[in-house]
Amino acid sequence: MSGTKREIVLGVGGGIAAYKACELLRRLQDLDFSITVVPTPSSLNFVGAATWEALSGRSVSTEVWQDVDKVKHVSLADQAEAIIIAPTTADLLARLVQGRADDLLTNVVSASSKPKFLVPAMHPQMWLNPTTQANVEILKSRGFAVMQPATGRLTGEDSGVGRFPESQQIIAAFLEHIGSTQDLLGKRILISAGGTREAIDPVRYIGNRSSGKQGQALAIEARNRGAHVTMVLANSNIADVAGIQTLRVETAAQMHGALKENMHDCDVLIMAAAVSDARPTSVAQEKIKKADLQSIDLVSNLDILKDLSADAKDSQIIVGFAAETSDLENLGLAKLKSKKLNLIYVNDVSNGAVFASDQSAGFLISDDGQSTYIEQTSKAKVARNILDKVVSRLSYANG
Ligand code: CTP
Repeated sequence: MSGTKREIVLGVGGGIAAYKACELLRRLQDLDFSITVVPTPSSLNFVGAATWEALSGRSVSTEVWQDVDKVKHVSLADQAEAIIIAPTTADLLARLVQGRADDLLTNVVSASSKPKFLVPAMHPQMWLNPTTQANVEILKSRGFAVMQPATGRLTGEDSGVGRFPESQQIIAAFLEHIGSTQDLLGKRILISAGGTREAIDPVRYIGNRSSGKQGQALAIEARNRGAHVTMVLANSNIADVAGIQTLRVETAAQMHGALKENMHDCDVLIMAAAVSDARPTSVAQEKIKKADLQSIDLVSNLDILKDLSADAKDSQIIVGFAAETSDLENLGLAKLKSKKLNLIYVNDVSNGAVFASDQSAGFLISDDGQSTYIEQTSKAKVARNILDKVVSRLSYANG
């Protein structure tokens, strides 16, 4: 997007660090961002609207009751590619968790489906308060990025965790979150995530331990890079994330149906779900008594990935996953070939700790013969690596 200014909203909460957000605004402008500042009413006690208007070159409102005819909360939410709130106070975190819309900033957040990046700054006791920490976890689970405050000297005599980080640190983390490029702009990405379940009777099922976290990380990263994302999610308690169309399913057959329906107009399919390989031959209508529960007859499920890739267009990029305990590269390559994939990520589950974890390690193998080992890292970083490869494969396939 070189040469084009990128629109963002800078929200400012009512903390003393509001004065440091003036410097942050300047440094973001250096990077060619066009910024609308939306302060909370209480933040004006620290930095007045005149300062923000002078620095941003734009008018500043704090309430929805100003310029009502412009429906600012909706227009700002639509125009901005991302929202950064710096500083975010404990009160603002709590209001965001509740979905309150009692000033312009919370209205904009509530109307926006774009990436949101929070920079909390407050006294250590407020930051470490279990309520604040629980609020942070809730917001993270809803797709907000929340930066860890810095540690050091505070406003008063004391010191601890809660400081507003240096502008350059904030900008580096913000750019990482929003994707410094929009290299998937307008692309349609279909992602499966979670683990399917097959009913045995009304209370029991065959399932697996997939949490859906890797699929969600891929969906968020793809959204941040400009893609339209549809995620078919099986049995995961992860919350819906703004800007990602989430279709919830239970069984392998339902997952197959939902993916098939969305396959025709997607550019990329990423099959991160753990699909049950088999289901009971029949589902008992009544709960099976334990005396009768000696064995269960199974029938194989369709291999969804194989089925979809067999019908895929040449321009569509197909990405599969595998979980292996040994001989990762060879087994991954064999799956890549047998399922006709462009790319496969082979999770290294030799030490057992991938499910429900936020971390992963494994081989990323592509059909052009390249194979890279990704050392233990966050699922967000794995998602970034996979999508980097997808972008290069897309330009190759469509170039
Ligand atoms: N997969 C699928 N449908 C299935 C089973 C698996 O679409 N019925 C997909 C998974 O989502 C994953 C890939 O196939 O992207 C590989 O899954 P994996 O379980 O590792 O391989 P399997 O083909 O099931 O082989 P095996 O269990 O024998 O290793």
